[in-house]
Amino acid sequence: MSHTIEQPRRGPGTSRTRTVPRAALDAEDVRAAYRRWAGIYDTAFGLVSAVARRRAVREVNALPGQDVLEMGVGTGLALPRYRADKRITGIDLSTEMLDRARKRVAKLALPNVAALHEMDAEATSFEDASFDIAVAMFVASVVPHPRRLLAEMRRVVRPGGHLLFVNHFAAERGPRWWIEWALAPASRGLGWHPDFATAALFGPEDMARINARPMPPFGIFSLVRLRD
Ligand SMILES: C[S@@+](CC[C@H](N)C(=O)[O-])C[C@H]1O[C@@H](n2cnc3c(N)ncnc32)[C@H](O)[C@@H]1O
Repeated sequence: MSHTIEQPRRGPGTSRTRTVPRAALDAEDVRAAYRRWAGIYDTAFGLVSAVARRRAVREVNALPGQDVLEMGVGTGLALPRYRADKRITGIDLSTEMLDRARKRVAKLALPNVAALHEMDAEATSFEDASFDIAVAMFVASVVPHPRRLLAEMRRVVRPGGHLLFVNHFAAERGPRWWIEWALAPASRGLGWHPDFATAALFGPEDMARINARPMPPFGIFSLVRLRD
């Protein structure tokens, strides 16, 4: 099943027009938040995000191309799920999250994880067109500048390659919109933006080229594939 993410509409004060969340996070806020989260991340967030993450990796596995860049790899929850013929490079800003990912790779002896780097997903050191696929799972609503993340994913992926996102996008209206709006000032403590608007990541020209599917639980996450 596929659903459309709505085009941003005009008019002040709605999630459809806001590209800037209520409370900003910078790189230091992200590092501080995930220093706190690292020890409990898998327990606190692993289960609720498991199905969406599994489906995203399944989609990556089904795509052509070998070289995969996982932006914001975190504790590496997705790493054991990639097919053996994919070669995975993971990057993250958080030393503590990466430590856990490295331990996971060592413990499970995952031969297809080529490298894990402490690096900013908004400005990586990779050459242009280094990867076949770039995937960002639960990262777009965390990075300080989501459009820079998208631009960087485009830059490092080869022409004809694939960009995938799994994320929570703020509701357009209704009770969930109000809850997300109310939670937004806590973004710094949470380490992500509950009021993350689709338009914060995708410009109007991208909207026509995305395929978005709601993911469990209750469609609070979306798996989004961006066509070239
Ligand atoms: C919610 S976690 C998601 C982790 C993992 N992708 C998963 O599926 O569980 C967000 C991760 O993005 C990382 N992150 C946030 N901003 C980043 C940036 N600019 N560059 C690299 N990693 C970043 C955080 O450190 C954190 O590990």
